[in-house]
Amino acid sequence: MNIKIFEVGPRDGLQNESELLTIEQKVQFISLLVKAGHKNIEAGAFVRADKIPQMADTKELLGRLPKSPQVNYWSLVPNEKGYQDAIACGVKNIAIFTAASETFNEKNINTSISGSFERFNLFIHDAKKRKIKIRGYVSTAFGCPYEGKVDPKVVLKVASRLLKLGCDEISIGDTIGVATPHQVQKLCKNLIKTVGSKKLALHFHDTRGTALANILAAIEEGVHIFDSSSAGIGGCPYAPGAAGNVATDDLLYMLKGMEIDTEIDLKLQVEASEYVQRILGRKLPSKYLQAALANP
Ligand code: HMG
Ligand code: MG
Repeated sequence: MNIKIFEVGPRDGLQNESELLTIEQKVQFISLLVKAGHKNIEAGAFVRADKIPQMADTKELLGRLPKSPQVNYWSLVPNEKGYQDAIACGVKNIAIFTAASETFNEKNINTSISGSFERFNLFIHDAKKRKIKIRGYVSTAFGCPYEGKVDPKVVLKVASRLLKLGCDEISIGDTIGVATPHQVQKLCKNLIKTVGSKKLALHFHDTRGTALANILAAIEEGVHIFDSSSAGIGGCPYAPGAAGNVATDDLLYMLKGMEIDTEIDLKLQVEASEYVQRILGRKLPSKYLQAALANP
């Protein structure tokens, strides 16, 4: 069995950090991820610099990343302006993002769910024509920081709209880390019927310590694509209190022990995570990272 890991550390991981990293530090971080074997890395976002200052250098960063035909770099694109900026950089992969909660969308991207699709409609056709790969995120799929409970039917509806729009992969986000395994399994059964297992990814934040359990539950349902972040950094400035993504290090350790292949070298992943920990200057959440550093 193979699991595909989609590394979001350089984007989701860093977007919540108030101290701005230099381009050189980001290039070094991403180069270490490439060395570890990552094939899908979310490197930046074409969003408003006043909203997410850490992503303001995405254009320059993309031009300085190590090039390899096997490595796909992804960037968030919320609207036509972001799309124009992205294609001016020659991107081959974009991630569009919306949510299952109206309030979260308004706070995060300043429009409603249907407003987000109106924006996507302005550039998706052109992206398909250029054969750009498109990922679609559904945030707040298990709970919303403003509205609380989220109706799973809305999640299915938004996921299916993204699929119809032409997304090649749909990532379902537990933005505030509230999901629990049985809830995940129930939603996965319906998502697989709607999206199919080949195009379905799950994106867990580990706010309440359930992310690995949720991943295991999803694997049992047949999901094989998971987003994770080096050292467990991450969060969204518009989801107050949300902690980092599930740590890539912890996920790799669990999968390795289960003899599930990811083509990513755990030792080299620790080097990338250790580098991020060093530049951020504090102990980061990954339990495996801390254990590996304590017992080299
Ligand atoms: P808006 O304010 O609605 O845009 O922004 P507007 O069209 O009204 O334009 C207002 C001004 O913004 C104009 O400038 C535009 O040019 C400019 P002015 O004429 O006033 O000088 N503008 C832009 N500038 C740069 N890039 C752009 C852009 N668009 C307009 N793309 C927008 C809408 C979405 C851009 C804004 O609200 C924004 O940047 N929000 C931040 C969104 C974000 O990055 N959130 C975090 C990532 S999502 C996440 O973390 C969840 C995820 O991890 C999954 C999960 O965990 O669930 C993916
Ligand atoms: Mg996220």
